[in-house]
Amino acid sequence: MQNIIKLNNVRKEFTKGTNVVEVLNGIDLTIDQGELIAIIGPSGSGKTTLLQIIGLLDRPTKGDLFVQGENQVDLTDKSRSRLRNQFFGFVYQFHHLINEFSALENTMMPLLVRNEKIKDAKSIAHKLLSSVGLEGREHHKPHELSGGECQRVAVARALVTSPNVILADEPTGNLDPDTAEKVFEKFINLNRSLNSSLVMVTHNHQLAATMDRVFELKYGKLIEISNKS
Ligand SMILES: Nc1ncnc2c1ncn2[C@@H]1O[C@H](COP(=O)(O)OP(=O)(O)O)[C@@H](O)[C@H]1O
Ligand SMILES: [Mg+2]
Repeated sequence: MQNIIKLNNVRKEFTKGTNVVEVLNGIDLTIDQGELIAIIGPSGSGKTTLLQIIGLLDRPTKGDLFVQGENQVDLTDKSRSRLRNQFFGFVYQFHHLINEFSALENTMMPLLVRNEKIKDAKSIAHKLLSSVGLEGREHHKPHELSGGECQRVAVARALVTSPNVILADEPTGNLDPDTAEKVFEKFINLNRSLNSSLVMVTHNHQLAATMDRVFELKYGKLIEISNKS
């Protein structure tokens, strides 16, 4: 299997005045195309920081990050944001949908940013909304949808570009366990059918157990705690 992401001794520290906080303390991780990875760990352990570095939203203090074999560390912000749009999909704890836009418009957004034709974007977004169980709700705005339904739209939006890698930061965080299970069972099936890789930060151990590998982030290090591959 081809590995598409590789972190090599990644370190990250934040400086607040004279105080230096070491958050990531030498992370090595290789992710294969189509592989599903869960990351668990206590609050403040650096899980979000790690996802931001993988998703090219932040840079490591030291170490290397390869995407499809190319080291990203020294690339310009412009090249990094181009690659980010082509390569990654993001799902957050709160849906981050645009309130004025319908479910369909929110889902189409990443395609329009890429200059896809409106007609094509609409048809792809329609299909994805159906596959997350939102057929008939396309023209509803976020305030007309439940929390679980909004998170389904967020999932559809993240998958609409068929990204190579999806990064999900506690995406079930504000859903009740039953709703979380329903939304994310579909999400994981879609991931598998698109052969997208997934890195999901979650406190939901049941969900984590459905992934190929589970890691715990603790004291700045990643420890593999289960591996089915
Ligand atoms: N931009 C920042 N500036 C300073 N400190 C930060 C910044 N981002 C995160 N941190 C610190 O890094 C640590 C890890 O944060 P985070 O990655 O958000 O953890 P988690 O997602 O596991 O809860 C925390 O101590 C946090 O205060
Ligand atoms: Mg976090």
